[in-house]
Amino acid sequence: MGAAAHFLFGWGTPTVMVNNQQVIVHPLWLRATHWINAAGILVMVSSGWRIYNASPLFPFRFPEEIALGGWLAGALLWHFAAMWLVAVNGLFYLAWNLLSGRMVSQFLPISLQQVRIELGQALRLELMHPELRVYNAVQRLAYLCVWIDIAVLVLSGLVLWKSVQFPILRTLLGGYEMARLVHFAAMAALVGFTLVHLVMVAVAPRSLLVMLRGARSRS
Ligand code: HEM
Repeated sequence: MGAAAHFLFGWGTPTVMVNNQQVIVHPLWLRATHWINAAGILVMVSSGWRIYNASPLFPFRFPEEIALGGWLAGALLWHFAAMWLVAVNGLFYLAWNLLSGRMVSQFLPISLQQVRIELGQALRLELMHPELRVYNAVQRLAYLCVWIDIAVLVLSGLVLWKSVQFPILRTLLGGYEMARLVHFAAMAALVGFTLVHLVMVAVAPRSLLVMLRGARSRS
């Protein structure tokens, strides 16, 4: 495979050098799916807040200024439009990671002892990320958890969207009202992940550059 094709597709091998100057860290398909997902999640969460405001579960509402959609029907349209984008994009990301073997090479193994050590370092903002091609144990665990969280969001969302069509799923989630709670809790976890994710990116801004342009200069 030529250098250009490798830059585009990467096919699960993050250790490629191009003309001895650049090292591919994130291939184009990964960057594209990451940023499409980030935009889609932003739309889904902010429109979800307006849908929640129409019938709040708890004694508070989200500020109108950050709730997308203008009114309930508008928010539902945004939510369902972004839903297809996030679903198709997520399936593509998952399939490519699985088929290329990247899922195993990039995210496994996860040493819980290492997670404990690195979590302490992360909380003190001392966690080093010198080799951008290799995720540390905290990142591996966080990314695996966020995939599971998104799967819970999708499953509980299906029950809220087509409750009658998914009776087994509804029962497994403890009924419609419980599915609402699960959906809300999974949304809160996703927002929490994203905030921590942004702090970690701010601590290691080089990681943002390579998530934007794909390669870093060889040091
Ligand atoms: C504007 C918001 C965001 C920014 C600036 C951002 C930035 C980044 C950066 C720089 C990395 C690479 C980390 C590294 O090399 O150490 C990354 C990876 C990742 N981000 Fe984000 N991110 C954002 C939003 C999100 C959201 C909303 C999600 C999920 C809901 C997410 C999920 C992930 C995942 C799963 C990875 C690992 C991807 C992989 O290697 O397969 N990000 N992000």
